[in-house]
Formats: sequence, structure tokens, C-alpha cells
Amino acid sequence: MSQELVEKITRLKSERNAVLLVHNYQNPEIQDLADFAGDSLGLSRQAAATTADVIVFCGVHFMAQTAKLLSPSKTVLLPDAGAGCPMADMITPEDMRQLRAEHPRAAAVAYVNTTAEVKAEVDVCCTSANALKVIEAVGKEAEEVLFVPDKNLAHWVAQQTNVKIIPYRGFCPTHVWITAEAVRQKRAEHPHALFMCHPECEPEVVALADEVLSTSGMLKSAQKTDATEIIVGTEIGLLYPLRKANPGKTFYGFPAAVCPNMKKTTLEKVAAALETMQPQIEIPEGIAARARLSVERMVQYV
Ligand code: 13P
Ligand code: SF4
Repeated sequence: MSQELVEKITRLKSERNAVLLVHNYQNPEIQDLADFAGDSLGLSRQAAATTADVIVFCGVHFMAQTAKLLSPSKTVLLPDAGAGCPMADMITPEDMRQLRAEHPRAAAVAYVNTTAEVKAEVDVCCTSANALKVIEAVGKEAEEVLFVPDKNLAHWVAQQTNVKIIPYRGFCPTHVWITAEAVRQKRAEHPHALFMCHPECEPEVVALADEVLSTSGMLKSAQKTDATEIIVGTEIGLLYPLRKANPGKTFYGFPAAVCPNMKKTTLEKVAAALETMQPQIEIPEGIAARARLSVERMVQYV
């Protein structure tokens, strides 16, 4: 059955001139089909550069929206239209406008985990891979920087810069399952293991980490390090590409850290999306024009 679906997807992809962009947290069978797998920044860059007519985005809604902003003439399909990001929904455009009115001298940076409507209200976006760079650059021009919605990413960046950051109250409901207590226990069980985590983890967890990285940053670092055992503080899906790329190393994850939205993409839904060319991402042009500027500025930062 799954072999039939893979064949169907491969055939439809070539008929439609489509490319499959896949986030590092997706189910293994989806990652295996990827034309490009990566973190939010890498996927944005691929979306901007592709010559395909159709992008099938295997990830969550804000990522597919970002792809559409960067490649407006392409058809962008999100195989499950209900695959959202609860963190992105923690701030509305009205909240953002109110924040800007309260802090008129602050520049505004949005984590890419936001809706296009919120991106339209800020100066620039960033991902976990370039947050420090973007905030430092913006901080040269402004007295203070509003950063939304992730309070944990804001805290991590604030520890590394003198730029005054005004954080918001958002957080990732998946990464909070990785508690400091659970990390201490894993470290006790595996005393020689390196601990790497995502900056969406809470500050007490980040304080225990040897390395704090985006998902693709963790994949690169795992290949480079001499450590043969690694504790991985992020969504459990990253364990699949880590193990595949590093058969000689042992990875320990936190099985409770599952993002249910990332798991909504299935082979059936990818095949159906390519067959019906639905569900498509559409962004009203008034919003898209302003949101596009924020994401175009973001992809310029390394
Ligand atoms: P990355 O950009 O590091 O892949 O993170 C995306 C995300 O949603 C993490 O929860
Ligand atoms: Fe959003 Fe967290 Fe899922 Fe990433 S892991 S998509 S931040 S809910």
C-alpha cells in the first residue's frame, strides 16, 4: 500500500512539476520522500529558489504561508489544511498593533512562527537559526526591539546581546514537555552524552544545554561532534534524520515532546493534494505585500 502511494506521489510530482519541501519533524516516510528536508530557514530559502511550479509543503501552516510569500507565482499545497502551530496562534495582528502603539520607538521582529497577518505588522522576521543576527542588526537602528511571540527564544537571545528586547508571552506547547527534571535524569543515565536543545525550550532547560541550535543546526552539529551519545532536546521527529545520518552514534530523545500538527501529514494526504491540487495556500494581496517584505529581509540574514 505504502509502496503504491510512493509510486503515485512520484508520478504526480513529475506530472505537476512539483517539489516536496519537508520539515525535520515530519513522519519518517515523508522525510524519505523529500526533495529538500530542513529547518524553517532552509525551507524558506528553498521555497524562494525553486524552479518547480508547485510546492508541496510538508510542515505546518505558517511554513507553507512563508513559502507562498517568497514564491507568490507558485502553487503551494499544504496536505492537511488543519496543520497549524499553536505558538503562532498565540498572537493576533490586533495584539501586534497594540504592542507597537505601546512601544512606538521599538523595532518589531516576529519569529517566523507567526501568521502572515502578524508578519505584515512587523519590520522583519527571523527563525531560530538567525534570531541573534537579526535582532542585533535591528538593534543597531532602534533603542529597543519587540520580539514576538516566543518568550523562550527571546530569553535565549537576550542572554547573548546588549540589545534591549521586549518579549511577548508565547511559547511552544510541545517543547515544554522537555523539563529540566527530565534532562537531569537523562544526564544521570548517560553521563558522557552531549545535551543539545532547541531555543524554544524553557530557560531552565537551555541553561543545562551544551549547545542550543535550530533543528538543522543540531543535524550539522551531531555530524561534527566527537561525542558518540547525544541527548536531543526538541520534538521527537528529529531523532529519525539524526539516526539515519549518524549510524555510529546513539541519540536519546524525550518521547512526550510530540508536535501533533507536524504528524498530520501522511502519504495519503500528500498523494491527494497532488491529485486534486488542494488545499492551496492563498494570502490576500494587501497582507501578502507587507508580510513579504518581512520574510524577504529575513532570508537575507545568514
Ligand atoms: P526550526 O526552524 O529550528 O526547524 O524550528 C521550527 C519549529 O517549529 C520548532 O518547533
Ligand atoms: Fe509550533 Fe511547537 Fe509544533 Fe514547532 S513544535 S510547529 S513551535 S507547536
